Formats: sequence, C-alpha cells, structure tokens
Amino acid sequence: MKIVVAGTGYVGLVTGACLSEVGHNVTCVDIDEHKVAIMKQGISPIYEPGLDELLKNNYDAKRLEFTTNYKNAYKDADVIFIGVGTPEREDGSANLNYVYKVAEQIAQNVEKDCLVVVKSTVPIGTNDKIEEFLKEHLVNDVHIEAASNPEFLAQGTAVRDTLHANRIVIGVESDKARDTLKGIYEKFNTTIVVANRRSAEMVKYASNDFLALKISFINEIANVCEIVGANIEDVTKGMSYDPRIGDKFLKAGLGYGGSCFPKDTKALHWLANDNGYELKTIKATIEVNENQKYKLFRKAKQRLGSLKGLKVAVLGLTFKPGTDDLREAPSIRNVRRLLEEGAKIVAYDPVGIDNFKKLFPTEIEYVTTPEETLKNADLAFIFTEWNEIKALKLGVYEKFMKTPIIFDGRNCYKISDVEKRQIEYHSIGRKEVLNILNRGKQEAAITRM
Ligand code: UDX
Repeated sequence: MKIVVAGTGYVGLVTGACLSEVGHNVTCVDIDEHKVAIMKQGISPIYEPGLDELLKNNYDAKRLEFTTNYKNAYKDADVIFIGVGTPEREDGSANLNYVYKVAEQIAQNVEKDCLVVVKSTVPIGTNDKIEEFLKEHLVNDVHIEAASNPEFLAQGTAVRDTLHANRIVIGVESDKARDTLKGIYEKFNTTIVVANRRSAEMVKYASNDFLALKISFINEIANVCEIVGANIEDVTKGMSYDPRIGDKFLKAGLGYGGSCFPKDTKALHWLANDNGYELKTIKATIEVNENQKYKLFRKAKQRLGSLKGLKVAVLGLTFKPGTDDLREAPSIRNVRRLLEEGAKIVAYDPVGIDNFKKLFPTEIEYVTTPEETLKNADLAFIFTEWNEIKALKLGVYEKFMKTPIIFDGRNCYKISDVEKRQIEYHSIGRKEVLNILNRGKQEAAITRM
C-alpha cells in the first residue's frame, strides 16, 4: 500500500515518520525544497525529541521518502493523509485554504481509487465538503472518499503520543474506509474508536476545548486561592485523588498557549455561534485565558509602579518546555508590554531564542545561560518551566540579581524553600514571599521609578 502525507509540519511529519516506523511505505510531500532536502538527511525542520532518529532510520530503510513532486506522489497513492495547517482567521474561524489547495492537487492527479484522510483539525462538516470538492474536481474516473482521523499529539512528546496513542479516532462513512484505516493502524496496538465523520471531527474540538477549559478553571481557582489565602498546589493535590477529576491539566500558570488550544477554542466557539448557539463555557475559557497571560505583569506593576529603566531577566520564551514553538506564548505579549514600559530585557531559553529573535531582533538582549540573564537584574520573570530553569538554585537569584524579586508564572519553586531565602517571590495561586535581602537596594530600585 502506498501512503502519502501532505504537509510536513508537526502533524504531517510525525504522522509520516510514525507510519513508516511501523512498516508502511510513506511519501511525505511538501512544497518547500529546502525542507525536503534537509529531511532527506534525517534532520527534522522542527524541534521534536526522537523525530530526527525516526526520519533517518526510515529514510535509510527506504520506507520513508520526501518529495516536492506532489503529482508523482498522488497519482498512484492508495491513501493520502492531509496534515497541513488550519490557522486562525482574524474572526476566530479556521482558515481552510491550505486543506483545499491540497484537495485540489489530489483530485487533479489521482489515477487510482484513493482514500483521503484529513488529519488537520477542521470544523465539523468539513470532511463532507472535502469529499464533495474532491469528487467535483476529479480528472480521472476513480473512486475517492474522505475520512476524518484527528490528531491528539502534543508538542515535545509528539512521537511518543503517536506511537503509543491512548486511542485512535477514525471518522468514516463506508466499511471500506473503516477497514483501510483499521488496517493501517493495526500495529499501533491501541483502541480504535470508529465514528461517523462529523463525530470524529467533534471529538478533536471537544477534547482540546475540554482540556483548555480545565486549565482556565484551575487558573480561576488559583486566582481565588490568592485572595482567600489558600495554596493552589495543595488544592489540586487534594482534588486529584478523586478519579473523576484526576491530576492532569490542572496546573495553574499563565494560561494555555501553543498551536492548538487557543485556535481550537476560538474555532468551536465561532462555529457554534455561526449556527446560533452560544458556547458559554468556551467563551469563558477564552476570556479567562486572555486575562491570565498578563497576571504577572499586573503583579509587577502593582508591586513596583513603573518598570522604566529596570533590568528584567526573562527565563523561558517558548509556550511550554520541550518545543521551540512560540505560538501564543505568554512571553511574547509580556515582553512587548515590558518594552512599552521602558524595561531593559535580557532573555534566556534553551531552544527558543532563534525563533524569538525573528520577533524581537534587536529590542532585547539574549544570553546562553540563566545565570547571565540574572546578572544585576532588578527583577526576574519565569515564563516557561524548562528543566534548566527549574533546576536553578534559589541561591543563584540571590547571588546574581541586584534585587532578587521573582515573578514565577509556572510555580517552579516550593514556597517553603523560598521562605528560607532572602528573596521576594510572587507566583500563581500561592502566598507571596516578601523576604527582602537588602531593603536599601530594593527601596532604591523602587524609588528610581
Ligand atoms: C495540545 C494537546 O495536548 C494535544 O492533544 C493536541 O493535539 C494539541 O494541543 P500542545 O499544544 O502541544 O498539545 O501542548 P500541551 O502540553 O497540551 O499544553 C498546551 C498549553 O497548556 C501549554 O501552554 C501549557 O503550558 C498549558 N498547560 C497545560 C497548563 O497551563 N496547565 C496544564 O496543566 C497543562
């Protein structure tokens, strides 16, 4: 069976690599010549643990091929996975231009019966429309059908999430499509949930939106914890032993970012609205998240008044650890606000600096160690809980900073540990620690504004 994957972003490339890893012959198509050339050398164009190795091994074993020649790739394909992006439009709806562009190229080039499997996250009903579109644009007299197969991989653990998926959802309208997909996924050894296309599309949105809702819920509870003197970590621990609640996705912080939750919450809200239904829980999820991103910035302003002229150490830039992705990362908006305030920023991130430089090439200084970031800083912001940042001893802040005032958006340190130090520490959903190392220095920092 010849499998083709259109698009080599997170979804497409990981899908292609993992399908070849279980023994399928896979051709990955991308329009970018340079990307194709480097993938052939076993180098992943995205930072994703374990992916380089999969690309190299399967390319060397001749099970995995990369090409820009989509015509050749599509003409004799049995199954074509579409894994291209569905970015957010300004109004929050999903932009399906890339998906339809690929569908058009498929319809114009297939020369044998073919199953088109949509992995990209698309609004409910899109697979039906894609099938119609494919049939309308077919050049040759072949049978073509669309199926939905949503993707649940998370960045940083994408290879593991795919090879050891907790379930595979397929949305099909025929036994033939069902059997083809079941056959492809047989070796993944996991539960295959078979549904119709619309239900499968909805599984994806409902799953992501529910996880986003959990995060916004716990962030609100954290905000109330601060007001009433409770500790969010103890609260979530106490909740988590109830198996109906569990302990996942209950970490309070600066809100969710990334390529999926922000986009998928807005897309489902928009879709429901467009059909006359107000999804109130998701509307609240989005609003809470927007607000949460600036939580630390507001705290800093409240604490210090103006931030003009202060040296701010920024620890962590990516939207979460284990990825170089900056999409909807809280660091971006906060850095922008800090710059508007006139702060001087020195930033550290183990892998995100190159991408951040594309957004802020000269406005901020970049360094390669957390210690350098902290040198002589008036305050520090922690935006991402990288191990390199969590491992930083509290003594390092005391040693290097002019005034060790920390705004920790990821609750990297235990309050009991901070309390033993001469540090001022603000975090999420927990009490503030106001141990001052050198009151003279801090007062000087604050009165300078
Ligand atoms: C997510 C889903 O997990 C995945 O199933 C889907 O296919 C794509 O979207 P991803 O965006 O890669 O994956 O990251 P994830 O680990 O889910 O985190 C998303 C955001 O939520 C991050 O900004 C993270 O910091 C935040 N988060 C996550 C929290 O704030 N608290 C938590 O408890 C968990």
